[in-house]
Amino acid sequence: MELTHRPRRLRRSPALRRLVRENVLTTNDLIYPLFVMEGENNVVEVPSMPGCFRFTTDRLIQEVKEVYELGINAIALFPVVPEEKKDNSGTESFNPDGLIQQTIRALKQEVPAVLIFSDVALDPYTTHGHDGVLGADGEILNDETVGVLVQMAVSHAQAGADFVSPSDMMDGRIGAIREELDQNGYDRVGILAYSAKYASAYYGPFRDALGSAPKSGDKKTYQMDCANSREAIKEVYLDIEEGADLVMVKPALAYLDIIRDVKLATDVPVVAYNVSGEYAMVKAADRMGWIDGKKVMLETLLSMKRAGADIILTYFAKEVAQILGKHPDF
Ligand code: PBG
Repeated sequence: MELTHRPRRLRRSPALRRLVRENVLTTNDLIYPLFVMEGENNVVEVPSMPGCFRFTTDRLIQEVKEVYELGINAIALFPVVPEEKKDNSGTESFNPDGLIQQTIRALKQEVPAVLIFSDVALDPYTTHGHDGVLGADGEILNDETVGVLVQMAVSHAQAGADFVSPSDMMDGRIGAIREELDQNGYDRVGILAYSAKYASAYYGPFRDALGSAPKSGDKKTYQMDCANSREAIKEVYLDIEEGADLVMVKPALAYLDIIRDVKLATDVPVVAYNVSGEYAMVKAADRMGWIDGKKVMLETLLSMKRAGADIILTYFAKEVAQILGKHPDF
């Protein structure tokens, strides 16, 4: 058969495939999320996230040293807050000697090269589990919440965070945080804005990990409706205008179109959050023997790069780093 085009010609060998490959997965682009809890010398696995743990600060430092050696440059921190420290407006969140603040200080001392992204949202700190201050009428109060978030962000900057990551979806919080950081002399601290964050059922295992599931209602009055895509661009533009350095789409796998839309609409690095439910699904199917979990993991993360993500926040980061060391050509 005489054919002008034989696309298979470019797929004939590993060397050729490597040569024409359009996207790569590398540890350079990964942020590793970690759960920190009070106490000493303790590590507890999260049941719905096999391979993910809650660490006490001392053990977390060991883990961060280990992943840094594997090539991971950045981590994101989330606290497990004891019930007795929670209240309606999450005041523990800006305690200068709180768990997160202490952990950031310790990490900066022990592993200064690793970038720290600290999550800014109230849900781990509120008795009701919402990301904001709960009003008498059941409404999450926007401006009151922003007032708490700015204090939280400054306390993280004071402790040594490189980036603060508001994940709450209140209106106007990026601008308010930027202004407060600057006024306190933290103009070098960056903001990773959770800009297009959807009200998603994929966050279940994360809420198990932190014990932060909302006690009543859902988060649909502040997180986005999964039916919408143009609204994501509006949110992203607002956050960039208000001073975001990096913008995020979350979740990632069911929102690859949004990652692409945001990439095309902006000129800032785009972060994809490969969330807890996406992680749990792969692990569960792998455990059942129904899929090859490692291959599915790599393929899924690469799909996020292909969609346009510059950076991926993923619980798989350590595992990926271990594999990429051995198979650098994936
Ligand atoms: C809360 C927050 C959530 C996640 C990150 N920050 C959960 C939520 O919004 O309820 C979810 C991350 C994941 O599922 O991996 N501010």
